[in-house]
Amino acid sequence: MKKKWWHGKVAYQIYPKSFMDSNGDGIGDLKGILSKLDYLKELGVDILWLSPIYQSPFVDQGYDISDYYKIAEEFGTMEEFDELLKEAKKRDMYLVMDLVVNHCSDQHEWFQKALADPEGEYADYFYFVKGKDGKAPSNYRSYFGGSTWEAVPGTDKYYLHMFAKEQPDLNWENPKLRQEIYKMVNWWLDKGLAGFRIDAIINIKKDLNFPSFEPDGEDGLAACTKMVEEVDGIGDFLEELKEETFARHDAFTVGEVFNMKEDELQEFIGDHGHFSTMFDFSGHMLTEGKHGWYDSKPVDFKEWRDALFASQENIQNAGCFEANIIENHDEPRGASRFLPHYAQNESGKKMLATTSILLRGLPFLYQGQEIGMVNCERTDISEYDDISTKDQYQVALDAGLTKEKAIQVCNTHSRDNARTPMQWSDEAQAGFTTGTPWLAVNPNYPKINVAEQEKREDSVLSYYKKLIALRKSDAYVETLTYGTFIPAYQEEEGIFSYLRKSEENGQTILIAANYGKEPKTLRLPGRCQKALLSNLGREKECEQEIREQGTLTLGSCESEVLLL
Ligand code: GLC
Ligand code: CA
Repeated sequence: MKKKWWHGKVAYQIYPKSFMDSNGDGIGDLKGILSKLDYLKELGVDILWLSPIYQSPFVDQGYDISDYYKIAEEFGTMEEFDELLKEAKKRDMYLVMDLVVNHCSDQHEWFQKALADPEGEYADYFYFVKGKDGKAPSNYRSYFGGSTWEAVPGTDKYYLHMFAKEQPDLNWENPKLRQEIYKMVNWWLDKGLAGFRIDAIINIKKDLNFPSFEPDGEDGLAACTKMVEEVDGIGDFLEELKEETFARHDAFTVGEVFNMKEDELQEFIGDHGHFSTMFDFSGHMLTEGKHGWYDSKPVDFKEWRDALFASQENIQNAGCFEANIIENHDEPRGASRFLPHYAQNESGKKMLATTSILLRGLPFLYQGQEIGMVNCERTDISEYDDISTKDQYQVALDAGLTKEKAIQVCNTHSRDNARTPMQWSDEAQAGFTTGTPWLAVNPNYPKINVAEQEKREDSVLSYYKKLIALRKSDAYVETLTYGTFIPAYQEEEGIFSYLRKSEENGQTILIAANYGKEPKTLRLPGRCQKALLSNLGREKECEQEIREQGTLTLGSCESEVLLL
């Protein structure tokens, strides 16, 4: 595997709407982000991914773009963006934006022109397809529920939308459209952007026959992912995109890729892959329900750990390097999801941080993860904003769940769990805004907030700083970046443990955590030179036990990082 500048870095996702509001309108903005750059620098992160900040009607929170060249007024101005870019650079930080090009907004000029002239040039920027027997061309269910087809007024045609009907899919078969996209991508890269996180990209290749599939739900529809999984040929689009844009700027790219074919890892992120890297969602996919959130499975520790391990080995064997997350803006909070109830405390959160951040790959933190923000309990669907949550609530009701049960499902799975405002302090609205936030703050902010944790040496935040510093330290960065991942103590119940072993310098680092309820004693293979980091501050005790007995005893929710 060729070494790249970004391999040894740590990335952080900002959800701009909920990060920091500078003008009291209740919406996070660029100036807010600017005011927190030093905070992020001190945390130790290098690469900042901004969820979409382009002009948008915000039907899907900015993932519906109406002008790719404009900053949303809510977020600020292009001058402020340039300033942010400059200030990030000054701090040796890299700015990465979201690239949403599977679809745009129905308010985009292209789509408006297409509607105005459904036989004209711009209709071909989208999929305007004739219906079959007076019905939609196929029976696909969109990601947000309902058909993927919407009638084009005044015609016998339908347009395709894999997501909301306000997010028409762009026709990648059209070379003109592709050129428009490349021009736009280059325009941003020319500004000095480090690269992109690439949204929903697997969906850009369509089977132009749009075959229907066996219905898989009560609604008589079939998941649109069926078509995505069966069609071939996405590689040509992705290669062209790369050659025309990213490759020319040596840009960093991280793909949001679900439903990839198994043998395509190399093609996607090998040394000459379409992208620099992509997210490893293997832990998140596990719990997915067959019909919706309501029938998803709870996380089983062993299954989760083994899925991550299998993925680590698979990626490593392929000579690839993926990006690791525990949460993002589409997922519930990792601490609420992956930690058993008895572990949902500061020790548990530090343990989860340890086992995740030291995996092989590029760690991505999501805002608030570093202070251990958790899911937000709501009692009524009106408290939710997210389009997908509203759909899933209805899906749950349609499946026969009571209102109370359906809300519980949303409380566990909603994307709004991660979208509540960042908790900066115990002041009103968590210090996020002086006005009324667009989405209510989690009421636990007096307890969980940055200001309080900054003051406390044993806080989750302080621990994240140490952990990131360890990962990037001169002494261990080689091993923790490139060291081989080797599973350890897999047969021990509740234990999440692995080695990182460097061919380069001979170092071996053991990461061991006890997700179980009871203490566990592990026999170590040999001596230990040093305990590098303990989530309970037990470095010295561990060293002593290992020296005297050759064992390591981990209490419940304890994690240790040892240099063997
Ligand atoms: C991606 C985004 C998600 C968005 C969807 C449609 O999955 O992460 O937030 O709703 O694409 O753009
Ligand atoms: Ca604002």
